Amino acid sequence: MPDTTPTGLTRLAFGGDYNPEQWPETVWHEDVRLMREAGVTMVSVGIFSWALLEPSPGEFDFGWLDRLLDLLHENGIRVGLGTPTVAPPAWFYREHPDALPVTADGTRYEFGSRGAICHSNTDYRSAAAAITTQLATRYGDHPALALWHVHNEYGVPVSACYCESCAAHFRRRLVATYGTVEQLNEAWGTAFWGQRYTDFAQINPPRVTPTAGNPTQALDYKRFTDATIRENFVRERDILHRLSPGVPVTTNFMTALSQCDSIDYWAWGREVDLVTNDHYLITDGRRTHVNLAMAADITRSVAGGAPWLLLEHSTSGVNWQPRNPAKAPGQMARNSLGHVARGSDGAMFFQWRQSRRGAEKFHSAMLPHGGTDTRVWREVVELGAAVDSLSAIRGTRTQADVAVLWDWQSWWAQNLQWRPSEDHDPRERADAFYEALYDRHLTVDFAHPEADLSAYPLVVVPALYLMTEAAGNNLREYVENGGTLVVSYFSGIVDEHDAVHEGPHPGALRDVLGLTVEEFSPLLKDERIRITGPDGSELSGDVWSEFVVPRGAETVWTYADGLAAGHPAITRHRLGEGSAWYVSTRLDVHGLDVLLGWAADDARIAPRADLPHDVEVVRRTGESGTFLFVINHSALDAKVPLEAHGTELLTGERAAGHLGVPAGAVRVVRLDG
Ligand code: GAL
Repeated sequence: MPDTTPTGLTRLAFGGDYNPEQWPETVWHEDVRLMREAGVTMVSVGIFSWALLEPSPGEFDFGWLDRLLDLLHENGIRVGLGTPTVAPPAWFYREHPDALPVTADGTRYEFGSRGAICHSNTDYRSAAAAITTQLATRYGDHPALALWHVHNEYGVPVSACYCESCAAHFRRRLVATYGTVEQLNEAWGTAFWGQRYTDFAQINPPRVTPTAGNPTQALDYKRFTDATIRENFVRERDILHRLSPGVPVTTNFMTALSQCDSIDYWAWGREVDLVTNDHYLITDGRRTHVNLAMAADITRSVAGGAPWLLLEHSTSGVNWQPRNPAKAPGQMARNSLGHVARGSDGAMFFQWRQSRRGAEKFHSAMLPHGGTDTRVWREVVELGAAVDSLSAIRGTRTQADVAVLWDWQSWWAQNLQWRPSEDHDPRERADAFYEALYDRHLTVDFAHPEADLSAYPLVVVPALYLMTEAAGNNLREYVENGGTLVVSYFSGIVDEHDAVHEGPHPGALRDVLGLTVEEFSPLLKDERIRITGPDGSELSGDVWSEFVVPRGAETVWTYADGLAAGHPAITRHRLGEGSAWYVSTRLDVHGLDVLLGWAADDARIAPRADLPHDVEVVRRTGESGTFLFVINHSALDAKVPLEAHGTELLTGERAAGHLGVPAGAVRVVRLDG
């Protein structure tokens, strides 16, 4: 059995992507000296090195990597070794131009960046297997080796390819899925617009069409793409397991919903030995620490609650957004320790030394262009010491309060063409509900709609357009057994083939919600409507309204204006031991907070009014104890009540009663007992 933690690593992981091939070897010695100064325990190496390791077909140059791994080993630095299959060399594409991916409109990408891969291409598959075999044979038992890091961020920058080889591979998958073309016709609803097929050979990828294409074909292509990419990961992983037994294999995910939308991470979480993630702040004016917490919670959930590892984030600004602000003093530490609080057994960066050449030279690094006499370097050294003082948390698990349901496949389906409103965005709903829960100081697990939910007093469904019957039954059982459910509009509408469930909407949820939806009535751009609550107070909604008919549910808020005026806007259905709430318009974060207040009462979740706004309090527990992380994102000093005495690990001070956390600071208390 492979390890599920980096082999031989006895502290938390701290370090980054290390690309020494961009520097003369004399610099490497300075690198390792400074790594030791910063407390670096692990680096990721070789991720983009194929062209250097195999300068021409079948000719290998491992000398530099031998020397590098030995040097790192001599200095006690563990290595996550990349398989460089995200960046095939120029000679490979010269020989196999068909391995370059093709867009839906027939454009073939060129060599000259990275990640230009058609994942169905058999030449690519053989070449990737061959270089992986070479590396595993040579370094499989190298004493520095802690982790295999396969490829890089599968799913970006290109996911789907629409070439002929993909078309053939797609047809094979369709035969395996549907068996007969009649079954496929039924599932895809090809009676519509005369799209009927009489042979699998007639079916192509969903390339550019004059108007809306077949939605189920497009959805199946998303599934096909994800599965095809995963086949390539599994092939490399199996080679590594065979030739390098015991060493865990990972590939770095990008679970933030804003950063990759083509990978079904529920499926991928089951394939890796250790879940690892990359996270970058998206500076679009929203609260970046909330987005970070959400990504970390998704990652932990994909890992089934087990510790995971943040493999990349940035020390300061990135260079690929329209505007790339530097991080404020202390922000890097808050970011790093925010991930650790939510289950990461370490904090790693892209990258160790800032590049002088290439497309990423303006991306921050642990060791900036300015060298060691810089704020970033001083903060890196300070963070290295902080991370080191937290070693005891390795292996402990983050404790969640509530669950949010999320499903990448439902997201794909929802984003197909021709929906009732382009303003409804499932990701936005997930973000908004998450933010409202975050502001109530509730720690969130994400869960698949068919997962066991019995551990959670409250389950929130922000936007699950596609829901199987099994998922609907799962939610009904959850509520009947005493759970509290909150469902937002346009959920439970279609089955796994994007076919509307039979009968009135929302087919998968009618019973549990105790209502039907007669008609959707999306609002016009910038249109707002008011809804009135039980005590006459008002909330406002936008984007969506609908005609809800209670069939067992009670009406709690009513539309005060708009086409649905006088009709129910928010309902509650008491079912068995629990209750199911339904909200049929898009509430802002304030409105969601009010709604969640009612639901939290039903779920008997006590309000955490004693915790200040933007002060994040998260708990990890395990054999080594209970650790309370307090991250003060606000500009005010904060005081947080402690339920037990303990020791603050970053300052070494004793803590009792209340814990003072200065503005912008992080504290981690190991509770006594
Ligand atoms: C990541 C990628 C790294 C680097 C980084 C820059 O997505 O894995 O190689 O490009 O972005 O932010």
